[in-house]
Parts: sequence; structure tokens; C-alpha cells
Amino acid sequence: MCGIVGYIGKQDASNIVLSGLKRLEYRGYDSYGICFIEKDKHHLFKRVGKIEKTEQDFLNKNFKGSVCIAHNRWATTGLVNEENAHPHCDCKEEIFVVHNGIVENYKELKEKLIKEGHKFSSETDTEVIAHLIEKYYKDNLENAVKRALDDIRGTYGLVVASVKEPDKIVVARMSSPLIIGVGDNEFLVASDPSAIISRTRQIINLDDGEIAVLEVNNIRIYKEEKESKKDIQIIDWDIELAEKDGHEHFMLKEIMEEPNVIEDAMRGRLLDDMGMVKLGGLEGVENKLREINSLSLVGCGTAYYACRVGKYMIEEYADIPVEVDFGSEFRYKKPIIKKDGGILFVSQSGETADTLSCLKEMKEKGALTLGITNVVGSSQARETDAGVYTRSGPEISVASTKAFLGQLTVLVLVTIYLGRQRNMSMVMGKRIIDELKRIPELAKKILKQKEEIEKIAQKYKEYKNFWFIGRKYNYPIALEGALKLKEISYVHAEGVAGGELKHGPLALVEESFPTIAICPSDSVYDKMISNIEEIKARKGLVIAIATEGNEEIKKIVDDVIYIPKTLEMLTPLLSVIPLHLFAYYFAKSLKRDIDRPRNLAKSVTVE
Ligand code: G6P
Repeated sequence: MCGIVGYIGKQDASNIVLSGLKRLEYRGYDSYGICFIEKDKHHLFKRVGKIEKTEQDFLNKNFKGSVCIAHNRWATTGLVNEENAHPHCDCKEEIFVVHNGIVENYKELKEKLIKEGHKFSSETDTEVIAHLIEKYYKDNLENAVKRALDDIRGTYGLVVASVKEPDKIVVARMSSPLIIGVGDNEFLVASDPSAIISRTRQIINLDDGEIAVLEVNNIRIYKEEKESKKDIQIIDWDIELAEKDGHEHFMLKEIMEEPNVIEDAMRGRLLDDMGMVKLGGLEGVENKLREINSLSLVGCGTAYYACRVGKYMIEEYADIPVEVDFGSEFRYKKPIIKKDGGILFVSQSGETADTLSCLKEMKEKGALTLGITNVVGSSQARETDAGVYTRSGPEISVASTKAFLGQLTVLVLVTIYLGRQRNMSMVMGKRIIDELKRIPELAKKILKQKEEIEKIAQKYKEYKNFWFIGRKYNYPIALEGALKLKEISYVHAEGVAGGELKHGPLALVEESFPTIAICPSDSVYDKMISNIEEIKARKGLVIAIATEGNEEIKKIVDDVIYIPKTLEMLTPLLSVIPLHLFAYYFAKSLKRDIDRPRNLAKSVTVE
């Protein structure tokens, strides 16, 4: 995720793009860049960190111009530094691009372009786009952009400008958001309306595969060589709502992004034909990973529950025994370093003190340290020997939702990687990959039921205690469901392994203590039904998360939320989505401060 702003018109663009970039900081804030385009001249400004820290530097430069492209970066490929901040340019510094998305085949394109003599100055995937446009440029920018995009596999919201044709901006979109604002003798481009609605409320939504050419008084939009006629829409939202993509809270926006997060985490990493995955960040330790005979997984909060799901995956499919610990516990127990073992740290922020302190300790002791994190260049990413990024984009709401889906998806990929190094057959690898590719679509199906889930949450809003139960892969999901509910709604919720109910928790079950039972049709379904019956026999209310087509369960429980059928190891990627929605709507019905729950912080940097 990144933020894009562009301007072409008759006014000076500096304050227009600066205020647009600030509005888009929720989409990325590790670095930013602004480029003004004139005939045979450009002015480029890039800085690392939040805009407020360096905006005065920018204003002091006194750059002026009425053609400008700008970008907020949320790093996915390449570290956080000025070289990697956008805009990127070609060898001759004539063509400038800003990009939001992922170029899946950038490595092969880059190698080819280097052989052809192109010189690269960043580590990003985006820079290949600038060089490809340079390669195909004859005398028309949009033609060169079209030709370059034919070579690219992946996603993009793209804005291109050139000092050779300073009277136009070329814009293209494929699966990354981009809108065009229509003003008075001016056009604006942005990742979302919040960046531009202080200037115009008239917008054109670009569709996938469309390319737009913007000139001061003219706009042309093409799809596959044909000119498209587009309607202008009038935005009637306020700025705050626009940032949240029309959702009331960032948490809901982030839950709605879960299918995309799953897709982005696997993008360009699947070697379908070989039933294998390609994880660039693990290449340096490939042989060491082949040798390991045990793994410890360490995380905090939601990331810890991702580790718990990872344990089931890795043990079942990669035949490696796995231990799981909270960062805050692992640190204080006796760490037994196994020569043939590894430690995998999971953290959205990569800055959680409890997790980082274990990492430092284990590094000093010489252990093989691995990481799964969302934030490129975070302390965890820098300190570990090797790792994989989740590419989930910035998560603003304190309660983690979409980042969990990114972590689970990467854990599936790591499981395939380790499994295929060991006993997993190619057929099994392919099977998991084929099913994983279906998950984003299945996840979207669950999100379509959000109104029904809201009704169920409202129905139970007077209750003050909840059990969440699950077994095997869905036991950690019960823990995550309970955590989410308690952290944002402040009601008491506990996750319990289904089989453990009868060993104590059942004593609390009565009419006023409902249970959410995660019981997809899998290897432990019958056992879960027995647990549900134990609860029903004591007059407890039950909401079931069950597999589509299971009509029988309606006869036993009070409410059902259905999820599609998938492989057992992948069910957590689906079963957690209704629980995130349930927690959200429950807290909303209690009018809680959902994005900023009391007493909690997003990144906990104290032990
Ligand atoms: C805090 C947040 C949680 C998060 C946990 C771990 O407690 O409120 O949402 O799961 O930290 O954060 P990390 O960045 O390490 O994943």
C-alpha cells in the first residue's frame, strides 16, 4: 500500500500535492517524494519519515510548477531510504513514475534491462517501470507506457510524467486504486478522494486495464486501444470518511481488505507447476533450513495466535516439531539453543519490545533467527538472519485484523517451503497452492454476509461474557476471536480448546454465558458437536461458525454463520473473518472507541 497524488493545471501544485500527501499518510508513511516536471527540466524532493518533520525543507526549496507527481511510500520491495522513495526515473532522468502495487516479475525484467545497458539507482520493483518506458519511448509517452505495461505482471496504480512532454500526465490502473479529480482547467490524480476533495468533488473512477492521458483542458481514457466514455461522480463524503474508504472505522476498512491482503502475501511467490513457493527472503538460509529439526515460534497478541496456527501447519505438513511462546515468556525461561533448530519471530510492526528482546538474546546465543513481519526495514526485519514480509500495508486500527491474515498466509507459504524440502510431495504442494489461490474469493464471500453478522452481534449485545471454542487449527482462532472481542468491546471473553470445556470451564455455562463455536466440517467436527451438545444441555446459547451446506447444525445451535469449504489447514484464514466482523459490530453496538480502545497501543515498545 502506498499513496499517490498528481496534478496538472494552471496553478502552482506545491501546496496541493503536499496537503494531498498528508491526507494519504494512513496509506504509507515511511518516506515520500515529490517531482515537478517542466520542459527538459525536473525538480525532485525525497525524504525519509513522516511529512510533518521535513515539509518545511520542501517549502524552503520554493519549487513551483503546475505539473507534479508525488508519493507516500509503504515499503514492500527494498529498504526504507531516499533512493527507494518514489518518484523513480529512467537513466536519462526524463521519465518519472510513482507506483502503488507490486511488479511480480521485476527481477527478470531488471536483469534483462541491466543487460541492455540500463542503470538502476534503487532496489525497488517500481524502477523497472521507468526503464521499460524509456526503452519503448519514441515520441509519445502514452504509447510507451502501454507497451511497458504489456511486459509487467502484477498490480499497479501508476502515474507517469516526462520532461519531453511536460504538457501531460499518463495514468494507469490494475488492481490498485486510482481516481481522477476533475477541476476547473485542471486534473488531479489520487489513490483515494480524501487527497483531493478539498479541491474538487468531481471524480472519475479508473477501472482495471484503463489508461488515462491528462492535459490541462483535456482527458482521454483508453482500454485496449479503444477510447472509454466515463461518467463523472460527485463525492458527498467528508474527508475523514474518504480516508476510511467510506467505512466508519479503520478496523472495518482493514477487515474488508483481508481478501486483498491474502492475495498480496502470495503474489509472485507461488511456483504452481512445482508445488513449491519462492521466498526471496529465505534464499540465503535455504541450506540451513533444510537441516533444522525443530522450530520455536515467538510473537505477542494476535501475532502469537498466528504462531499457534503455524505450529499445526508446520508439524502436519513439514514434519518439524514446533514450540510456541509469547515473547514475554520466552525471554525469561531457560533458552535451550539447539544446533539444528531455528526461531521464527512473528510481528506486524517488527518493533514489539517483548519479541525483539528475545530476538536479540537468541542472536547473541548464536541461534538461527527468522522473521515474518509487515514493516519493511523494522528492527525485527533488520536483526533476523532471514525473513518474509507479509505486505499487508499499514494497519491503523489498534486491534490487529488484516495483518493476522497476512501472517497466516505467509505461514502457509513457509510450511510449503519447509515441507517440500522434506517429505511433502509435489502433488500435496500443488494441492495446497491451488486451494490457497481460491481463498481470497472465498474470503470475499464471507465479507458479503456482514449485514447478517451485524444482526447477530446486535442480538447478543447485552451479554457480558462469551466463550469461544475450537479444536486443532481453530483453537487458536477461538483465542483470537476472544481477544478481539475483549480488546475493543471491553466485555469478558475467553477462548477455550473444545475438549477442555469439561475440565472446568463448563461450570460457568448457563443461559447468560453464550458460546461461539468454530466447527467447520473437518477432522474434529464430531468432537466439536459433542462439546456444543454439552453446552446446550446446560441451556447455554451457541453461535456456530460452520461449513456452507451444513443444515443439520441449525437444529442444535441458536445462530449460524457459514464459511465456505476448504482444506482443513486453510480454514483459519476463513473462520477468523466472521469473528473479526462479530467483534467489530458488537463493539459498534456498544458505541466503543473501536480504532483506539482504552489502555491499549498499536506498537508496544516497552517490556
Ligand atoms: C499490541 C497490539 C496487538 C498486536 C500486538 C503484537 O498488543 O495491540 O494488536 O497483536 O501488539 O504486535 P506486533 O506488531 O508484534 O504484531
